[in-house]
Amino acid sequence: MQGFAAIILAAGKGTRMKSCLCKVLHPVAGRPMLSYVIDTVRACDLEKIVLVVGHQAQDVMNHYTGSGVEFAVQEPQLGTGHAVAAAREQLRSSSGDILILCGDIPLIRPETLRDFMGFHRHNESALTVMTTNVENPCGYGRILRNEHGHIVGIAEEKDATQTQREVHEINTGIYIAKSDLLFSLLSQIRNDNAQGEYYLTDIITAAVQQSVPVHCFVLQNCLEGLGINTRGELAFASAAIWQKTRMDLMESGVTLLDPGTVYVDSGVEIGPDSIVHPVVSISGNTTVGRECIIESGVYIINSRIGDGVQILQGSRLNEAIVEDGTTVGPMAHLRPGTIIGKHARVGNFVEIKKSVVGDGSKASHLTYLGDSTIGKHVNIGCGTITCNYDGVKKHPTVIGDHCFVGSDVQFIAPVEVGEGSLIGAGSTITKDVPPQSLAVSRSRQKVYPLRKGQGSASPDEDRKS
Ligand code: UD1
Ligand code: CA
Repeated sequence: MQGFAAIILAAGKGTRMKSCLCKVLHPVAGRPMLSYVIDTVRACDLEKIVLVVGHQAQDVMNHYTGSGVEFAVQEPQLGTGHAVAAAREQLRSSSGDILILCGDIPLIRPETLRDFMGFHRHNESALTVMTTNVENPCGYGRILRNEHGHIVGIAEEKDATQTQREVHEINTGIYIAKSDLLFSLLSQIRNDNAQGEYYLTDIITAAVQQSVPVHCFVLQNCLEGLGINTRGELAFASAAIWQKTRMDLMESGVTLLDPGTVYVDSGVEIGPDSIVHPVVSISGNTTVGRECIIESGVYIINSRIGDGVQILQGSRLNEAIVEDGTTVGPMAHLRPGTIIGKHARVGNFVEIKKSVVGDGSKASHLTYLGDSTIGKHVNIGCGTITCNYDGVKKHPTVIGDHCFVGSDVQFIAPVEVGEGSLIGAGSTITKDVPPQSLAVSRSRQKVYPLRKGQGSASPDEDRKS
């Protein structure tokens, strides 16, 4: 929107979270709460966005460098009014309107901000506050109106009188002010209040005292104005976002057998006709293709799953890629750097790390593959292990296309098996195997006849019992 810049306040510690991590970086349904606010403001296409940072400033800046925001540092953090003043330098060239909002309101939508800006312009307002009516106003600033219904001030919870606390119209912490007016009002506020802070809310009273009309935009859906100060509110906001994601997924053609038990973070994509069973968590930067089946107890993070893939009960995938038509699990563990090709099979109790398994290959039972490259149409027998770690370094195992590895084989890496070879069951492979060969390394079986009385149970004893 033309003529608007934004300030997002994100310098506070968030004391009520009782956390080492600054509040705005706490994840809501898998993403930092501040990311939602930044995305929402970015969707409004404003001229500039200034993010005010302070507590753990470097961490916050690292997170959002390159995301289209400028930074202003507030040091020390002396309140929300003081925080806005810290952005003055960055907004020197912005003579229009400034949208101000807090970094702890992840549920606010771009449509609402656009309506708010439209309202402000329509009323030719110099200062507009977004308010909303809530059942439990505890913790919020209360909107004070005079006998004509005009806003005259905002009373913070800790400063409010008993009568003021009974007001259910609250301040969402979202404002628009003309730039010149804003910084002039900010220079007038003081910190003589219960918290000894420079409250941004005090600009309302200051404006009213100067006969500047202040407008209120009343947000209809109060949920959007939810400010997160506590872990309880954090969980509440996550639940709201997860619920919306479930509805969006079902709307787009995904079946959720028991929606309330499926946790899919916003940003995850799942293709149509995929079926997600109960108690599943899919998070991070993950895409799941169409016609997939994700069974119960599956946890997937930062992974890419193709079409027609089945992830069976109790499997965990982290930074893995699984191509079309492959089956994984039950109880498989795909760790970072795993790539499983098309129409392959990774079965129960198989762990794979930093390995590529080619199209059509199978590791169906009880296997560990680490730092390995397995070709196409390879059979990895039950109990096979790549011994990739010598205690100091990790080493690679390479197995060519069309190899057949019998059960209970150990590959002592680094080792390479050429294509089309066969490894006998129970072998410990310490040297490279050329293509089209048979390698067996196991001690020859010896058979000795038992003398009378040897062995665990004699036929006579069997008959007695
Ligand atoms: C604030 C409002 C309150 C409103 C509520 C809406 C004030 C004084 N109060 O209260 O009227 O109902 O939001 O959610 O403004 N911050 C800084 N620097 C600071 C202090 C805070 O950048 O020195 C940032 C925080 O990181 C946070 C935001 O400002 O993102 C709001 O601060 P918070 O302490 O949560 O304010 P509330 O007490 O919720
Ligand atoms: Ca807050």
